[in-house]
Amino acid sequence: MPAVSFQSVSKTYAAGRGAFKALDGVSFDIEEGEFFGLLGPNGAGKTTLISILAGLVRATSGSVRVHGHDVQADYADARRKLGVVPQELVFDPFFTVREALRIQSGYFGVRNNDAWIDELLESLGLADKAKANMRQLSGGMKRRVLVAQALVHRPPVIVLDEPTAGVDVELRQTLWQFIARLNKQGHTVLLTTHYLEEAEALCGRIAMLKQGRVVALERTSDLLKAASSNVLRFKLDGALPAEFENKARVTGRIVQLPAHDAHEIEQYLAVIREAGLSVEDVEVRKADLEDVFLDVMAEKAAV
Ligand SMILES: Nc1ncnc2c1ncn2[C@@H]1O[C@H](COP(=O)(O)OP(=O)(O)O)[C@@H](O)[C@H]1O
Ligand SMILES: [Mg+2]
Repeated sequence: MPAVSFQSVSKTYAAGRGAFKALDGVSFDIEEGEFFGLLGPNGAGKTTLISILAGLVRATSGSVRVHGHDVQADYADARRKLGVVPQELVFDPFFTVREALRIQSGYFGVRNNDAWIDELLESLGLADKAKANMRQLSGGMKRRVLVAQALVHRPPVIVLDEPTAGVDVELRQTLWQFIARLNKQGHTVLLTTHYLEEAEALCGRIAMLKQGRVVALERTSDLLKAASSNVLRFKLDGALPAEFENKARVTGRIVQLPAHDAHEIEQYLAVIREAGLSVEDVEVRKADLEDVFLDVMAEKAAV
């Protein structure tokens, strides 16, 4: 039995005078113990899919199961199997960190949970904040509490919706170490992130969403293997030649171009010479997940 099963999930929001289809027939399974990445640009439908999984939003059609429990017909059992860290920082400002975690435990009917709460606080670097009021915490600290809150009832499936957006490097590392450990212990993890290097390092399998549809669903290693090319990377001392405009990834002075073979690299360099430009720090590297992501998103153009 899969840990999570999405079957033909569609969601149409009422929007202004019309209707907006945020999800359009999404189907895939996540097996128990997987570390699964859900990627896609802003507005692709990731949070909508997670909200349907968490029972916060109702699908227009299709069904979702968690360990076999339908998220609508069997809501309480499905919800108990899930720990969800939401994208938005939602919290009650009147409680201390420990109180918030005790209340959440009570919500799931877990009693005498302080030993586990202490372990969560310790693992997430929150031990000295147990008595702090939620409203006194920085954004990063609140994010840690949200993670702890999602885990108070030891759910087998952990869902994280952009947990590292706007978070400092230290928290990202603490968080990933902890989540990776839980995954090793057998927890299933579903993650959305814009940091593709995180997804590449952590996720065994990845689904890419675009405009509410799954446009790629593969093992991370296969996605990287299927990348059609290497990447030529250099610093350019002038304006980008028009020939490169549709294929180059540009970050300040750094230009990256897909390079299938030596001949193509020579052609690129010839274009630069002819434009009277010069380059520095030239290197050829293997395509990474970001290259694959940009490829997939460009390929499956909007209809
Ligand atoms: N409650 C809502 N009402 C109307 N439109 C919504 C609502 N929630 C999300 N949307 C729209 O659905 C699309 C998908 O949003 P979302 O699931 O948040 O995407 P993602 O998390 O991938 O950025 C967006 O175009 C968004 O504006
Ligand atoms: Mg989102």
